[in-house]
Amino acid sequence: MKVLLIGSGGREHALAWKLAQSPLLTTLYAAPGNPGIGECTTLVALDTDDHAAVVSFCRDNGVTFVVVGPEAPLVAGIADALRAADIAVFGPSAAAAQLEGSKGFTKDLCAEFNIPTGAYQRFTDAAAARAYVQEQGAPIVIKADGLAAGKGVTVAMTLDEALVAVDDCFDGAFGAAGAEVVVEAFLDGEEASFFCLCDGVNALALASAQDHKRVGDGDTGPNTGGMGAYSPAPVMTDAMTQRTMDEIILPTISGMAQRGHPFVGVLFAGLMITARGPELIEYNTRFGDPETQVLMMRLNGDLLPLLYAAATGTLDSVKANWSDDVALTVVMASKGYPATFDRNTAIAHLPDTGTDAKIFHAGTALKDGTLVATGGRVLNVTARGATVSEAKDKAYALLDQVKWENGFARRDIGWRAINR
Ligand code: AMP
Ligand code: GLY
Repeated sequence: MKVLLIGSGGREHALAWKLAQSPLLTTLYAAPGNPGIGECTTLVALDTDDHAAVVSFCRDNGVTFVVVGPEAPLVAGIADALRAADIAVFGPSAAAAQLEGSKGFTKDLCAEFNIPTGAYQRFTDAAAARAYVQEQGAPIVIKADGLAAGKGVTVAMTLDEALVAVDDCFDGAFGAAGAEVVVEAFLDGEEASFFCLCDGVNALALASAQDHKRVGDGDTGPNTGGMGAYSPAPVMTDAMTQRTMDEIILPTISGMAQRGHPFVGVLFAGLMITARGPELIEYNTRFGDPETQVLMMRLNGDLLPLLYAAATGTLDSVKANWSDDVALTVVMASKGYPATFDRNTAIAHLPDTGTDAKIFHAGTALKDGTLVATGGRVLNVTARGATVSEAKDKAYALLDQVKWENGFARRDIGWRAINR
């Protein structure tokens, strides 16, 4: 099978690394990719916003299956264009990607199908939103409705903070994404990321993971896309996983099918495990980053048939097999991230990792033969071990051999699991 992978982050490097091991594969293309992805795929210079160009590339090169990594092309309808051209695609339609693209859409679906989530209201004007916030009191959560690159959410511990967040949204801090605002009850508990493959009808639960969203040690400082992760998440016991499937995932899949928008791809549920049980914080309609890096480290066997089964409505015929090992990844970011940072700083050395570890590239490029950091999150140092502590020690031992002056990392990834 000839496969095209779309994306250029650490998540896509992890997917590429795993897909490239498949015996079913003839050629794995990636667009636009990065230097790490280039080590295990054939990179192609394709404008992935140009859906007709992507379809033509597939036709011209005999690509019969496309795996879409990030959310933006999904929300823009790339999966619809490929399906219309009879090319199998792992990823939801634009209509189904609203589960990530519109928080209001998801909250309404939860209300209609009794899916546990924080109580909420949707607003299109500041005065009504402010009045509701004042009536509810703090803590309370203010969210821009649309895609805001993970930055549109304020967990306000005081009323003042909440009112400022409402005004910021309506004043355009998140552009069009903030034209509508969702105000939501604060959920108290432990967060977990839960992943499930879907083929429109059937669901296959993957492993769980826990992310570290804050930039600083001890979970301090501003929110980021994720500074590290490990899998499994100890809070996701078998019983909690079963409840998540029964109370959240399966009602979502049947609700989307009933609405005429069957969900195909990976449903990534951000969960809060509260005293009442699992509650939905949000959906993403793509794999998590950096959670995918640890999931791929723990997946035994072939990824390609799992993704292909989701894309072709045959998920009931496959099973996923997970290693009992723990996998842990530490993100190395450019100094200054998540605020401003220098670009094109040289990465002088990456160590050899051996077989049970891997350094995934998230924001790198080759400039005149030198590896440079081009993004905020740049490298994901990922290792496996029998325990969280063992995986953590291996990952940090490797990280300390990376020679990149402008890089930094948290030193405490996995602390919550280790403290348990
Ligand atoms: P989101 O972009 O919706 O994932 O929100 C970003 C982060 O804000 C989440 O990972 C949570 O840590 C936090 N958050 C979002 N919604 C809530 C909520 N209702 N209660 C508590 N924390 C929340
Ligand atoms: N690590 C969280 C995300 O991918 O959205």
